[in-house]
Amino acid sequence: MITIRVFNGPNLNLLGQREPGQYGHSSLAEIMQGLEQFADSCGVELEHMQTNSEGGMVDAIQQAGGDGVDYIIINPAGYTHTSVAIRDALLAVEIPFVEVHLSAVSSREPFRQITYFSDIAIGVISGFRGESYLLALQAILNRIEP
Ligand code: DQA
Repeated sequence: MITIRVFNGPNLNLLGQREPGQYGHSSLAEIMQGLEQFADSCGVELEHMQTNSEGGMVDAIQQAGGDGVDYIIINPAGYTHTSVAIRDALLAVEIPFVEVHLSAVSSREPFRQITYFSDIAIGVISGFRGESYLLALQAILNRIEP
């Protein structure tokens, strides 16, 4: 059975209330519940976490490395555009990952068009609101069983 861990960065705990025009009306709990159901139906073991801190994200990625996780789905949120430390953690554990965004970051402010992750990700899914996570999981499954 493959194991996937999902990491959500700062302010994603506010989904549903936070800028719904950008991020949609669903809460993080609702989005993660839908993702868990999809993972269950595909026989994938999936765990998820959210943190507002950069160090918390680095610790969780290191833990995933120690736990032998197969794939990561990560929305680094605001840290997408700033965090060398989270990038380095992903490089250190060598777990293939998909970068996910709810909004279409490439068509937003110039600073959001810079990501510290996309050049080392398997791929990037951006702009489909909560569905971005489902598409990321589907992309991983397609890669395993083409
Ligand atoms: C985000 C996009 C980031 O620019 C922003 O800081 C977020 C959420 C997204 O999912 O669209 O917090 O990662």
